[in-house]
Amino acid sequence: MVFVASEELLPGMCLAKNIIIDKSASPITVKSGQKLTDLHISAIRTAKLDGAYIDTASSDVRVISSVDQPIRREAVSELHDIADNFINGINGVQKSDIAKLTGTIHDMIINLQLQKDMLVNIAEVQIYDDYTYHHCLSVAIMSIAIGMELGMSGEMLQDIGMAGILHDLGKVAIPTDIINKPGPLTDEEYEVVKQHPVLAAKHLKERDLINDDVYCGIICHHEKLDGSGYPNHLEGEEIHPYAKILAVADVYDALTSNRPYRVPSPPNEAIEYIMGGLDSHFDENAVKAFLRKVAPYPLGSKLKLSNGETAYVIKNYPDQPLRPVVAVIGTDKVYDLSFDMSCMSIVIMEMLDEGGHNRSLINM
Ligand SMILES: [Fe+2]
Repeated sequence: MVFVASEELLPGMCLAKNIIIDKSASPITVKSGQKLTDLHISAIRTAKLDGAYIDTASSDVRVISSVDQPIRREAVSELHDIADNFINGINGVQKSDIAKLTGTIHDMIINLQLQKDMLVNIAEVQIYDDYTYHHCLSVAIMSIAIGMELGMSGEMLQDIGMAGILHDLGKVAIPTDIINKPGPLTDEEYEVVKQHPVLAAKHLKERDLINDDVYCGIICHHEKLDGSGYPNHLEGEEIHPYAKILAVADVYDALTSNRPYRVPSPPNEAIEYIMGGLDSHFDENAVKAFLRKVAPYPLGSKLKLSNGETAYVIKNYPDQPLRPVVAVIGTDKVYDLSFDMSCMSIVIMEMLDEGGHNRSLINM
């Protein structure tokens, strides 16, 4: 179940809770289980209701998703095939592998363009065990969204999507006991890990499977503006613009994901970390576009507030991503955490899953 703002309700969505439309002397109750029609939606909007709780399981329409699940599954499956050929294939990654992925990235871009004004719901990348593949997908989606926000052309979006989805391919060539080591790496191990951008980028470029821009995006995604990154210690303008965008998406997703050796940071801490790295690590334009486009608390997510109450997110402000409008569960209270002065002291403590548990307990 998620709360869907009234302007985003669609015919066919299935109500998860009764709503009362009280715009005249004779209020209408629309019962849970009812599929919404155009008439219901128009009545909800006329009555100025904030929205309705929608049953995601029985609705036959997509409620909130920046990229459709079949496309996500396709992308991850194609990435698996590419990784397999990268490691085990006699001739390595094939042209046909990249051609398929190119088509899927095109579908992802179309999906995101259809929802141009929506924030990207990062938390919708949910429970998966093969972290690297889904991390690559998240980074691709976020990077395309940031590129769109920066006004990139279709060709550039295609390139940045390709760089995003392949950026960590080299990790599959690194021993898993190093990649998943539950603790600090030795200097020798760290040197091995630092090879991953080079391994994939070189393999793909040598086979003429990627262009120079995608190559630079992949190989530079761990470079930092102050020259302290790797593998080539590039500085400022020496770093390709795609890599600057990938770096923001990569770090945000890595920090907010659950790993065997680390609990995830809440979105606000991850964003504070990124803001703290402006100038030294991250490019300002990439970070600003990221903050305008990414919803750390997606619509419908459940939050624990500092006053002890639990609430659903019912609206996000692109310029205030950490202070959404929330509806307190079990009450009629709505807090606008950005603009209602009486709510300024309320702090979001954590994001909960549907069972009321901290998301950090879920393997994202
Ligand atoms: Fe990486």
